[in-house]
Amino acid sequence: MSEQAEIILGGESYKMPVVVGTENEKAIDINNLRAETGYITLDSGYKNTGATVSSITFLDGEEGILRYRGYPIEQLAERSDFIEVAYLLINGELPTKKQLDDFSEAIKMHTLIHEDMRRFYSAFPTFAHPMGVVSSVTCALSTFYPESLNPHRGEDKVNLTMTRLLAKFPTIAAWAYKNSIGHPVVYPKNKLGYVDNFLNMMFSMPTDEYEIDPVVVNALDKLLILHADHEQNCSTSTVRLAGSSQANLYSSIAAGVTALWGPLHGGANQEVIEMLDRIREDGGSLDKWVAKAKDKNDPFRLMGFGHRVYKNFDPRAKIIKKACDDVLNRLGIKDPVLEIAKKLEEVALNDEYFVERKLYPNVDFYSGIIYRAMGIPKDMFTVLFAVGRLPGWIAQWKEMTANKEPIGRPRQIYVGPKVRDYVNIADR
Ligand code: ACO
Repeated sequence: MSEQAEIILGGESYKMPVVVGTENEKAIDINNLRAETGYITLDSGYKNTGATVSSITFLDGEEGILRYRGYPIEQLAERSDFIEVAYLLINGELPTKKQLDDFSEAIKMHTLIHEDMRRFYSAFPTFAHPMGVVSSVTCALSTFYPESLNPHRGEDKVNLTMTRLLAKFPTIAAWAYKNSIGHPVVYPKNKLGYVDNFLNMMFSMPTDEYEIDPVVVNALDKLLILHADHEQNCSTSTVRLAGSSQANLYSSIAAGVTALWGPLHGGANQEVIEMLDRIREDGGSLDKWVAKAKDKNDPFRLMGFGHRVYKNFDPRAKIIKKACDDVLNRLGIKDPVLEIAKKLEEVALNDEYFVERKLYPNVDFYSGIIYRAMGIPKDMFTVLFAVGRLPGWIAQWKEMTANKEPIGRPRQIYVGPKVRDYVNIADR
């Protein structure tokens, strides 16, 4: 007989089935818990809650394993490219040559954004954080493509929405940057690859042609692959939760961008570089900052350290650390902040506080240094994360929609006042 969990409540025993995943991950299926017992579970931050069964990404935080559709992240980062990985995540299998060519061509067909959308950019203040701009403009795509409003409107329409998103998102992101520096926007060039095109839209000027450096393209492509999916993290769960109400894909992705923005999630890459700069400006002594991070009365945390699920090492951080060295060496850049980052990692990894709590550098710890070497300004770092995460969000939304998952609606335990009578304002 398959394994069951037994819950004893008020002297009664209830049996709950156990669900076992491909990699022997186990969950107690409590779908009928409330109906049978009247109880709910309480799990702040969903630390122990499986929100879905998914066949997209496997992650083992204890062993430091990350696989997309079964393929190890190390192999994908080394041998694949971002567009192929996007195809894999969204469609479940690696593409044939023809499938990949068709997929890339379809994306190239849709890189322009509607001219009327350009006017949105001039309405944002130039000091606007680009994540706010990207999230707003992504949501606004739904107003230009009303056929996307019904997510069940036929596979072709849904595929077109996914293609449009993948195609337009880099344009939306690069234009947010151009707008923030008061430069004219650069239109996409479809003869260029996905990453080359993005870099060209970021850095090309009417006065100067931008020379695309293959080292930079390769490193950015790798970074995007490493960010492409990470199962049920905060922003992905947000995309699924928004999408579970059958909200359209554009607005569900815009919700994901917003969730990613926070410093405890994708916003950490910007925070890491700001922290390292602060340490450098402060003279570079690490002891003070490590002590602050350990002090419970001090809100300071070592940004880029710790992870909700990785308790051994973050496999993406290992790859990025190497890519970071490669890029800086090839571009001949000496960034003093990289030296501080390496020392900080060494100090923290040998400090009892961090060892005990299994706090290791995460994906964001080194990515900011690479972005900076590429000339990307720090408030665009999280936008780059969003460009990378987009195929994962789309794949998760598609899976949730195909599985006809019910609307997400957690419960709560109410601890407010008991019922009381309204008192007129004159008597209070
Ligand atoms: N610096 C100092 N102490 C830390 C840090 C840190 N970066 N991270 C966790 N801790 C401590 C906590 O104070 C807590 O200590 P305690 O047990 O004595 O109270 C313990 O380690 C556990 O921390 P939690 O916050 O409970 O862990 P949780 O899983 O909820 O949070 C998180 C994970 C948000 C990533 C956290 O480690 C953090 O804030 N890190 C810094 C921000 C960051 O780098 N975020 C990016 C994450 S990766 C990503 O989203 C792409």
